[in-house]
Amino acid sequence: MSELVARGFLRALFHAGQCLLRHPPTHDAVEDAITALQRAAEVLTSGQPEVCLTVGKEAFFLGPRLLPHASIEFHGMRRDLQQRGIDSITVLRGASRRDLTDLAAVAAGHGADLPVGGTVRLNERPVAFAQLETRPLSGLRRTYAASLDALRAVSSGRRLELEKVAGAVDGFLQGGAADAGPSLMLATLHNHDEAMFYHSVNVCLLSLALGRAAGLGDDELRRLGMGALLIDIGRVVLDDPALRLPGRLSNEDWGLVRLHPQEGALAILAATGPGQEIAAQIVLEHHVRFDGGGYPDLEGRRPHFFSRLVAVADTYDAVTGHRPHRPARTPQQATAILLRGAGEAYDPDIVEAFNRMMGLYPPGSLLRLEGGEVVMVTAAAGGDRRAMVVRDREGALLEVPEPVDLAGSRVAEVLLPDEVGVPPASLLEVAEAAAGSSPGRS
Ligand SMILES: [Fe+2]
Repeated sequence: MSELVARGFLRALFHAGQCLLRHPPTHDAVEDAITALQRAAEVLTSGQPEVCLTVGKEAFFLGPRLLPHASIEFHGMRRDLQQRGIDSITVLRGASRRDLTDLAAVAAGHGADLPVGGTVRLNERPVAFAQLETRPLSGLRRTYAASLDALRAVSSGRRLELEKVAGAVDGFLQGGAADAGPSLMLATLHNHDEAMFYHSVNVCLLSLALGRAAGLGDDELRRLGMGALLIDIGRVVLDDPALRLPGRLSNEDWGLVRLHPQEGALAILAATGPGQEIAAQIVLEHHVRFDGGGYPDLEGRRPHFFSRLVAVADTYDAVTGHRPHRPARTPQQATAILLRGAGEAYDPDIVEAFNRMMGLYPPGSLLRLEGGEVVMVTAAAGGDRRAMVVRDREGALLEVPEPVDLAGSRVAEVLLPDEVGVPPASLLEVAEAAAGSSPGRS
């Protein structure tokens, strides 16, 4: 059974838990989410009487197998489960709706007691900790998870701690020092329920890679990365649920959203820690256009170089991510939007540097070759044209993706992750192993 199936179950569990937090149990959204969870449980247990997911100290495991992608995506849920004393979830085939609803409540942290239903069992772990796969999560993934936590902490009313933000940026700098490829692949992660947090982390990764390509030193990159990671923290500070979902806004919400750069900058200046001035400036200016338009009004002053750089990364990730009012678009469509806006909305030199860094097919791009196989690009532009085959010529999903050199191959079509059924970031470890190095490991 692939990681994708387990990930699908964890995703449905997380989503159902979030719905239970937001709505009463009889709400349509909850009903739909539990139905989706039941369906995911059926897929998870198809062909076997029961499946056990272990809730480890740092990761989820399916049987003894590490789930690297799901572990980062549902890092917060894993931690909450662990804090409630849950170290495994065993789902029996035909799991009941009632037991799955109880499980979703526990996963969301508001079930009073642990469920003891007969079809979903907790802490009956058949796999001993000693048998679990011991390879570590890549340093980049751990840092990604820590960055999400730093943003969630502000969201849950705790203080903005700039030391934690700086620590996360340092982790990225170390993890991506040798090769931008893994960073750029990881930056393809998106999450529907916490879209804004994932977006912020991706903007940080993209900005750091771009800053490094532009020749910035580590101290400058650290300050750039802090501002990038906090770009939309003002939306959290304003604490309006509508603002947390990037998407189409009502006029009233739009008036509020235009305040998020100032609110974010004020929150950073009120926090204690290093690098706050430039981070605050980046946050204040990230929606100011190269030609002076946008918001807030800087009265003709051009935004700081770092702010112009982050604005390019912000647009790229927003376009390639799914939004409530439109589907995700390809990296090529995103770079076309940047090119169209170069000189007006965006600094043309930065757009050029960004496109040079990403290349025609950035890491994480999914391509159908003329031969019919589907590949995912893993190497950054300028290196070898490396990729992994994820679907063979007959369209079958490969259990273990195979490395392939794209030299001499012709691309028939650019695909979206939803069309391929494989999120690019889920193949990060495989791609690193195939490249014969482990730049993200620590
Ligand atoms: Fe913003």
